[in-house]
Amino acid sequence: MTRPRLDRETVLTILAENDALDDPSEVTVKPLGGGVSSIVLLVESPHWRYVFKQPRERFQVTDDWQVPTERARVEHDAARFLDAHLPPYSVAPTLLYDAEREVVVFEAMPEGWVPWKERLLSGLVEPHLAHQAGRLMGRIHGLAERLGDDEMRHDDLFHAQRIDPYLRTTARRVPQAARHLDELEKGFFAHAGLVHGDLNPKNLLTEGTRLILIDHEVMTRGDPAFDLATLTNHLVLKAIHLPTHREALLDAAEEVRRGHASVHPVDPALLERADRWLGALLLARVHGKSPVEYLSPQEKTIVTRLGLRILDEGLGPGSVRRVVLEA
Ligand SMILES: Nc1ncnc2c1ncn2[C@@H]1O[C@H](COP(=O)(O)OP(=O)(O)OP(=O)(O)O)[C@@H](O)[C@H]1O
Ligand SMILES: [Mg+2]
Repeated sequence: MTRPRLDRETVLTILAENDALDDPSEVTVKPLGGGVSSIVLLVESPHWRYVFKQPRERFQVTDDWQVPTERARVEHDAARFLDAHLPPYSVAPTLLYDAEREVVVFEAMPEGWVPWKERLLSGLVEPHLAHQAGRLMGRIHGLAERLGDDEMRHDDLFHAQRIDPYLRTTARRVPQAARHLDELEKGFFAHAGLVHGDLNPKNLLTEGTRLILIDHEVMTRGDPAFDLATLTNHLVLKAIHLPTHREALLDAAEEVRRGHASVHPVDPALLERADRWLGALLLARVHGKSPVEYLSPQEKTIVTRLGLRILDEGLGPGSVRRVVLEA
């Protein structure tokens, strides 16, 4: 089945079919930033603001990276599940899923909400947002017990979205890391935790002291250490990139763990696996199919050295700061 591409015409059709279209001339449609993996549109009328999202078949990166578009349904189901079980406005509420066109419609956050990433890269590093992000992550991890063994399990999608582009691609390009990356891959699927899969500052929208999570298409069952490592990794990458804010970003990385621990029993084995994953993700965001855009060649060398060191030697408790400052 070929589905229509998400554009203004498709938006108006979906609105009309759902009895939500009064006057098409009042509706404005504009693309939102990011959108590596999906077409994301802000759709506004004087009465409401929605976000329409349709997954791309091929991601907009240099490497060839394709993921089945059924992930739109996964994102919708995940958003519904999270919205039902987390405190209000922990995630952007989802309004509908159009199965034929593979489009998910969300409530748009009001003007003024920005990705946490923007604030961090401008040097605004607020520990309370890091704490909240860690808390939200801990709450999500705590929801695993509400699920049956096979619910929210999307092994194949996780493979296409994370294992192949991050771990296996990196293993081919950095062969000395291959053994560790292979172990992490096997270990991931040996766990039945609930994993968000894309807990990064671009997917945490903020306004003042508030923070909400979006972009749930990677959600699956597996090792939640992956999430802890993902968020830590983004803060560590920024700490390497922004020397002036290094200490504050490393504090924020520690605050994420404190936030997580405030709602979730501390599990030393999970923290140790998160350290290994941190080594892997540092390498993956330089050598995998989704490289971060802001690192200089020299910073990439530092990140590679750091990732390999963490994979080879692990980290002692509380030592992310030490190894980053030594890198
Ligand atoms: N509900 C929302 N309210 C306001 N802005 C939103 C909302 N959902 C998404 N956005 C904006 O659109 C951008 C892209 O959305 P999203 O992360 O869901 O798409 P994506 O294709 O998975 O993006 P990426 O691959 O860049 O992570 C977000 O970074 C955010 O700025
Ligand atoms: Mg996103």
